[in-house]
Amino acid sequence: MNHGFVRAWSFFFSMLTVASLTLAGLVSVAKAAPRGDTLNQWIQGQFRVSTLALLKNISPAGTAPGVVVASPSRQDPDYYFHWVRDAALVMDSVVTMYERAPNAADKARFFKLLSDYVELSRRNQLTPNPSGGAGEMGLGEPKFNVDGSAFTGPWGRPQNDGPALRVNTLARLARILIAEGKSDWVRAKLYDGKSPTQSVIKTDLEFLGKYWTVPSFDLWEEIQGQHFYTRMAQRKALLVGAQLAQQLNDPQAAHWYLIQARHLEQELAKHWLPQRNLIATTLDRVAGIDYKVSQLDVAIVLGVLHGNTGDGFFAASNDMVLASVQQLKRRFDESYLINSRKEDFEGQPMETAFGRYPEDRYSGTSTSSLGNPWFLATNGMAELMYQIAHELRAKGRVVINRTNAAFFADVAPMLTMRNGQTIVASDTRWTPLLKSLMTAGDSYLRRTRFHTSQNGSTAEQFNRDNGYMQGAHDLTWSYASFLTAVWVRSEVLSGRRR
Ligand code: NOJ
Ligand code: NOJ
Repeated sequence: MNHGFVRAWSFFFSMLTVASLTLAGLVSVAKAAPRGDTLNQWIQGQFRVSTLALLKNISPAGTAPGVVVASPSRQDPDYYFHWVRDAALVMDSVVTMYERAPNAADKARFFKLLSDYVELSRRNQLTPNPSGGAGEMGLGEPKFNVDGSAFTGPWGRPQNDGPALRVNTLARLARILIAEGKSDWVRAKLYDGKSPTQSVIKTDLEFLGKYWTVPSFDLWEEIQGQHFYTRMAQRKALLVGAQLAQQLNDPQAAHWYLIQARHLEQELAKHWLPQRNLIATTLDRVAGIDYKVSQLDVAIVLGVLHGNTGDGFFAASNDMVLASVQQLKRRFDESYLINSRKEDFEGQPMETAFGRYPEDRYSGTSTSSLGNPWFLATNGMAELMYQIAHELRAKGRVVINRTNAAFFADVAPMLTMRNGQTIVASDTRWTPLLKSLMTAGDSYLRRTRFHTSQNGSTAEQFNRDNGYMQGAHDLTWSYASFLTAVWVRSEVLSGRRR
């Protein structure tokens, strides 16, 4: 651990108290911090607002228990559905809330949300739907009505990142529960180790193991093909699934999941296009939009974050990831007018607002205009920067090369780091480099802050020209993306991140 680095940031430790506030405490203090607060004060206030707003979208009145509405918006756009992907990512934040709950009452409340989600997920798995009738292929169905029934309208389906993300959230819950001595519940509800299985995680894993080669629609629901994001999520699911299977005495399944994960790694490697210095978001397109010619997509960033197993495979600090991120950033800098403003009202630096991909045409309600920056993309960039700082600190060195040089020159322009140089922890540039990464992460959060409404609510997007929010209001995933960025930030600052 680099102590200079931790000391430099220890001033900000006070914000860690956020994690230990009770739910009742949260409700009593949750109001958006007025402009003029320091970034840390704003983060504290926004953390509370985001937590409550996220929880409000779980099983709202009139919906089935365990449902996560993507947004309360019921028209223009209608996001009042349970999306398998959004729900898994949101419930992953609830797993963290459960893990960190400061008292038994809160813990019980979070456990109830999680067990309702497990029940609903099992029901989703068993509900005949357009992706696969009553068969196994139905596991790729992207969204369900809020009473739990199948959505039968036309849609980009299947989306096979969904079952993978669900495994990743629930396998994490399983590990926590096993450590708490609740293995019986885990075996009954999550992983029974039987064939055929009746449990939610194993059902998803059997599907993924057999069908990961099948082309599906991407996380933006627009292109059918093979996607870096989907594959990263699937690889992680098969690996954490293998671990869980091993732990719960299902060694043959564990072995088979592991082999499928290794095959996926070979396919994932093909996404790197060395001539273009980027990771291609989609290969082997078979249907859907055809105008994403740049191959650049924030889905790479999200794939790295949501597919992280800590084993270094396409890690945040991977050179190929850094090269792709840098190109994407340049494109968003050029295309969104709001990115010409680089400082907030206090003259503090604001990083580039990120959207989904440069050619995006989705305005939040229609696909006939120009795409905009998204909160979950910009927050994802903050989280990526913190994660890169974490990984470099753990490694204790970085080699500057042709692939990553542009990224490092951009993040720390005052440190002359030349192509071919190795910078180790004793180098005078080391601590400033790590600090620059943390500062960049904070500057992305300052960008989010700048476009967040006064009461702390965040929609899906903010307008590329005027910066005002648009698209689905109170998007649940926007809140989850803020919480995860803040958790990673505080873990890195306190040196507690593993
Ligand atoms: C809604 C989808 O969720 C969004 O990702 C997409 O861009 C539009 N429909 C247009 O297909
Ligand atoms: C559109 C996004 O493209 C997609 O990723 C998301 O699942 C849905 N909206 C619901 O939030």
